[in-house]
Amino acid sequence: MFKDQVVQALAAVLPELSADQISDLLETPKTSDLGDYAFPTFALAKIKRMAPNKIAAELAPTIDATPFEAVKAVGGYVNFFLDKMSFAHATLMAIDEAGDNFGSQTLGVGDVTIDMSSPNIAKPMSMGHLRSTVIGNALANILTKTGYTPIKINHLGDWGTQFGKLIVAYKLWGSEEEVKADPIKHLLEYYVRFHEEAETKPEMDDEARAWFKKLEDGDPEATKLWAWFREESLKEFNRIYAKLGIDFDSYNGEAFYNDKMDPVVQTLVDKHLLQTSQGAEIVDLEKYNLNPALIKKSDGATLYMTRDLAAAIYRKETYDFVQSLYVVGNEQREHFEQMKAVLKEMGYDWADEIHHIPFGLITKDGKKLSTRKGNIVLLEQVLNDAIDLAKKQIAEKHPDLENADQVAHDVGVGAVIFHDLKNERLDSFDFNLEEVVRFEGETGPYVQYTNARANSILKKTDVSPAAEVALSDTSAWDILKLLADYPNVVARAAKAYEPSVIAKYALRLAKAFNKYYANTKILVDDAELPARLALVSSISQVLTNALALLGVNAPAEM
Ligand code: ARG
Repeated sequence: MFKDQVVQALAAVLPELSADQISDLLETPKTSDLGDYAFPTFALAKIKRMAPNKIAAELAPTIDATPFEAVKAVGGYVNFFLDKMSFAHATLMAIDEAGDNFGSQTLGVGDVTIDMSSPNIAKPMSMGHLRSTVIGNALANILTKTGYTPIKINHLGDWGTQFGKLIVAYKLWGSEEEVKADPIKHLLEYYVRFHEEAETKPEMDDEARAWFKKLEDGDPEATKLWAWFREESLKEFNRIYAKLGIDFDSYNGEAFYNDKMDPVVQTLVDKHLLQTSQGAEIVDLEKYNLNPALIKKSDGATLYMTRDLAAAIYRKETYDFVQSLYVVGNEQREHFEQMKAVLKEMGYDWADEIHHIPFGLITKDGKKLSTRKGNIVLLEQVLNDAIDLAKKQIAEKHPDLENADQVAHDVGVGAVIFHDLKNERLDSFDFNLEEVVRFEGETGPYVQYTNARANSILKKTDVSPAAEVALSDTSAWDILKLLADYPNVVARAAKAYEPSVIAKYALRLAKAFNKYYANTKILVDDAELPARLALVSSISQVLTNALALLGVNAPAEM
């Protein structure tokens, strides 16, 4: 609305430009001593055949400056200084009225499917799956706030030749009690042992192939074991999801598409898209500059790609999505490019609404974490360690905190989530628990602690916050501008599928508040105290909203 005032003031004296053109041209100066909006006059230089700084100097005095504190020509710009009092008033009122909904807006409507988390059965959930889970969840929250309806789909890796190996291994060395007690640990043990022994006994691989064939053919024993491995693994995954506070709308994984691939392959045949190459069935994607998509192996077994094609079509038919997102590591970039290209070749225009949302790796001391090479990091352990570390710090800072366990959970888990989301999703980053759970620096606990500090200020007085009282405190200016910008920040995060935009914003707001807090006596009993309290309460509200979008709780005390 303040931008509109600037646009209108300029439109009144610039008949040669439309309001939209003016709005697009307006810039935000880097520092507030250059004003709050800057209009660059170079755009007029051609039309007016004059130097930009001359245009600025002539234009500025003609503008009706009544709604503003000042309008000044500086070089090739006309700078607008907003009226701080009315800006403060409007901003605090808006946040007070909207509350938890401050930042909500409609950028679009309709279902958006989000393929997220998607770990592999009988294997530990990796840090990569954690990234997919928390990024996908944050995107779901951000999409909800911007008008869409997210559908969170956990495309479990629950089918494939590895189940043949696992069945053989279980029958040789497995025990029901072991699997029930600690499913993924033991299933992984059997699987690793299978690989070790198969190195010298190649006949084990034949046996595994035979068991997988049985599974594909619906053999009762094989099916029962498979279903049981899946169920036990899922129990364990669900424990992690519960800790993270994340749920799903669907757990339809790879196996769900077993009976849905034939029609896909048939369509490919009908459309003359399938070719045989070295015994395998492929779709040539040369015109997309991509390697061919592998649809069927020479032994007739279907592949990851075939399932994904079936899944994409199933999702379109089931949800009629307006967008379909796949939050999957950057190493699968080509796979999703191929998938989209094949769907396009099949004549599905909606393939354009499919977006792979890639992300980088989590490293430890600069090295990639891997499930195979033994340096696996067990996610549940990481979360538990983070909670313990949070507990220790809280005990030091706030020994008599009532619901200390719940707060430690929110802080520990929140720290891990925040650390993941503050990095631009494509960047790789190092994970070091001590760094992640610190209460200072660019961390989740720092933002949470700042919010708790704001709350404790509000509790120290009987005076109630009042957004309608005038706030003349100019040292709050940076904070007010940040607060007013929050809805734009949400929009930017939504358009770029980038939760880090929100996390970075929360850090900036927390820093701005801590600076204000260090320099201003907030609780002085003067006429503006209710307005200062409204400022503090707005900060807490917006920090809480921002953290909620990331999937992080904001404890009132800590
Ligand atoms: N299970 C796969 C993996 O761990 C990820 C699946 C991603 N989703 C998909 N529709 N392909 O690598």
